[in-house]
Amino acid sequence: MGRLLELAGVTVRFGGVVAVSDLDLHVDEGEIFSLIGPNGAGKTTVFNIVTGVYEAAQGSVTLSGRSLRGRRPHQVTRLGVARTFQNLRLFGNMSALENVMVGADARHRTGIPGAILGLPTHRAEETSGRETARELLALVGIAELAEDAASNLSYGDQRRLEIARALATEPRLLLLDEPTAGMNPPEKSALQGLVRSIRDRGVTVLLIEHDMSVVMTISDRVAVLDFGRKIAEGQPADVRTDPAVITAYLGAPTDAA
Ligand SMILES: Nc1ncnc2c1ncn2[C@@H]1O[C@H](COP(=O)(O)OP(=O)(O)OP(=O)(O)O)[C@@H](O)[C@H]1O
Ligand SMILES: [Mg+2]
Repeated sequence: MGRLLELAGVTVRFGGVVAVSDLDLHVDEGEIFSLIGPNGAGKTTVFNIVTGVYEAAQGSVTLSGRSLRGRRPHQVTRLGVARTFQNLRLFGNMSALENVMVGADARHRTGIPGAILGLPTHRAEETSGRETARELLALVGIAELAEDAASNLSYGDQRRLEIARALATEPRLLLLDEPTAGMNPPEKSALQGLVRSIRDRGVTVLLIEHDMSVVMTISDRVAVLDFGRKIAEGQPADVRTDPAVITAYLGAPTDAA
């Protein structure tokens, strides 16, 4: 499997804060790759760099060898990268189905004028977009909620809806920012199954996740960030027992009294 995403020497600063420091990272096609680390480690910033929300001060970001630097978020979407947000960003008053169709629109060729005028090409796309949206809602397990307003869905279902919307853009790479946050154990285990099935459909997954049991179960590889630096990378079992990782999560051992 080829290399899909590659970051080399990426540094991101916000004023005096170095959010990401000289980061090298690559994700291969077909992987479920997890990015973990304490709060403020720079994980979401990595997503924001990949998706064109922010531009790195230094370094390169490539997708299948093509530079993503300087590209706007919608351009990155068109190149096949989709994401969900740590803080949900759904259109609360719109139905679940409509929220997914908005995702599909991000990939349509018809420009805004066509959409406003309801030109035939646009109508055809809207029909197939609606069907695709229903299929995606079924895939994420909320088909029966298609007509409900997004804001009426449970927190866990809203996270699933965000994933459906991201998939509607037909990504090759899906970035999930803490998809199990706020979920109970049965919801978490269902979500693990969903992430696997998405990967099995040919979508590479880059995951930010705090729940260690989820990370250890579904990841092919894991990288650990701490204060913007990568402090460990490898198979889940190796990362879990890495002393630097344990220190980052639990704090430095104090001297015995
Ligand atoms: N837009 C911004 N402006 C200023 N500082 C920012 C901005 N975005 C992130 N930061 C800072 O960059 C650092 C990394 O933040 P980031 O959100 O990437 O962390 P994270 O690993 O996703 O943390 P969490 O687990 O809490 O979501 C933090 O110190 C944060 O305060
Ligand atoms: Mg974050």
